[in-house]
Amino acid sequence: MGPPGAGKGTQALLVSERLGIPHISTGDIFRANVKGGTPLGQEAQKYMDAGEYVPDSVTNAMVRDRLDQPDTAPGFLLDGYPRTVAQVDELAAMLAKHDAVLDHVIELTVDLEEVVDRLVKRAGAGGRTDDSEEVIRHRQQLYADQTAPLTAVYQEQGLLRRVDGLGAVDEVAARVLAALGI
Ligand code: AP5
Repeated sequence: MGPPGAGKGTQALLVSERLGIPHISTGDIFRANVKGGTPLGQEAQKYMDAGEYVPDSVTNAMVRDRLDQPDTAPGFLLDGYPRTVAQVDELAAMLAKHDAVLDHVIELTVDLEEVVDRLVKRAGAGGRTDDSEEVIRHRQQLYADQTAPLTAVYQEQGLLRRVDGLGAVDEVAARVLAALGI
C-alpha cells in the first residue's frame, strides 16, 4: 500500500523476484488490457485517465480470476489492491476460498510533494496518460480519502509493516526486505 508514486510497483517487482512469486499489479493488468483494446481495458480506461478508481465489481472480478491461476499456489504479491472497503472484504473472501492468509501488508510512507515530483518526472519522460499534475493530485486525494484509512484494518490484524519510502530505490528495498524478515 502507499500513495501513487510511493514506489509500490518498483519495490513489488524486486520483492516478487527475490521470493519467486507472481507480482500481481491491478494497475499493470488494467494497462495491459487498455493496450490490448479488450472490453475490460475499454471499461477501465475512462476511470484511469481521470484518476478515479475502476469500480469494485470490475476490479474484484479481475483479481478473483488472477488468484485462480495455478502460479499463485506458492504465494503471490498484490500491488495496488485492495484500495476500498469492498476490496478488503472481497480479498478476505478470496483468501478464505483458497485457504490462504496474508503474511504481511507493506505500507510505503512518503512525502506528498516528493511523490508528485516523481510522477511529474515520469510524465516528462514519456510516462502515463494519468500523470498530468492535475490527475496526479486527484489520485493522491483519492488515496488519502479511501485507501489510507484501510491500513488500520491490517494494523489491527498485526500485519501492517510501515516502511519509509523515501531515499534511493535500493535503500528502500533493503528496508522492505528487513520488514518482511528476509
Ligand atoms: P497503479 O498503476 O497502481 O497506479 P498508482 O497507485 O497511481 O501508483 P503508481 O504506479 O503511479 O506509483 P507506485 O506507487 O506504483 O510507484 P512506482 O514504483 O510506479 O493504478 C493506476 C490506476 O489503475 C488507478 O488510478 C486506478 O484507476 C486503477 N486501479 C489500479 N488498482 C485499482 C484498484 N485496486 N481499484 C480500483 N482501481 C484501480 O514509481 C513511481 C515513479 O517513481 C517511477 O517513475 C519510479 O521510477 C519512481 N521511483 C520509485 N521509487 C523511487 C525512489 N525510491 N526514488 C526516486 N524515484 C522513485
